[in-house]
Amino acid sequence: MKVTRSAFLRNAVLGLLSAGVLAACGSGAGTSEDVWKVGTEAGFPPFESVGDDGELVGFDIDLFNAIGEKSGKTIEFENLPFDSLIPALQGGTIDAAISGMTITEEREQTVDFSDPYFNAGLAIAVKEDTADIKTLDDLEGKKIAVQIGTTGADTANGVPDAEVTTFENAPLALQELSNGNVDAVINDAPATLDAIATGNIPGIDVVGELLTEESYGIAMPDGSENVETVNAALAEIKADGTYAELYRKWFGAEPPTE
Ligand code: ARG
Repeated sequence: MKVTRSAFLRNAVLGLLSAGVLAACGSGAGTSEDVWKVGTEAGFPPFESVGDDGELVGFDIDLFNAIGEKSGKTIEFENLPFDSLIPALQGGTIDAAISGMTITEEREQTVDFSDPYFNAGLAIAVKEDTADIKTLDDLEGKKIAVQIGTTGADTANGVPDAEVTTFENAPLALQELSNGNVDAVINDAPATLDAIATGNIPGIDVVGELLTEESYGIAMPDGSENVETVNAALAEIKADGTYAELYRKWFGAEPPTE
């Protein structure tokens, strides 16, 4: 077999590259001690989404990067389906998840949460000018779209005779409503309001009162020794004005005073 010069060069270059990669791994530049792998489902603006250049952006992303800075850790985000975040924490493939995730009793059975970092709640969205849906009771027997694995999905599943369709992310559920294929979406109010305000999803409205009061927390594996570190960083971020700055950046308002 004749080895051409270019093939020889290519192999030589590939060999050098992989030697370099191996050397970089061995140098301790990014040992797992210094790196936190953080899972998020980045289809949930303004908390997390994929920016124009493929980078993850949003309030949660900025918040966790600030936590990393305070804790001396490099943060590596991983974009995962929402319903696989808790299994990934349990399996130890990620160190934490920040994803607008509500602290619930059920989730607390399997993971640990940081202190709450954001107050939210569920709201019903309908097509503009819908007169007959004001409360959860009004959704009986209706078609409801939700994001899989969410508190919104749990709430929809409790509505008698409702026909619940699940989607991989909230924007897809809201688009289904915008297209007129379902009667309502049950989703976190801040995310739905953002979709309306940005014009990302046309022709929909939020109705009535919030259905629930929920607090978001950062989830970590059960018994994780990082919980204290994360809480300490969060407290610092709130105290030194970083939290207020991020809140203004992503919500265009002052953060609520607790
Ligand atoms: N807060 C809701 C929950 O915990 C919805 C969160 C959805 N987050 C996301 N990144 N898609 O179930």
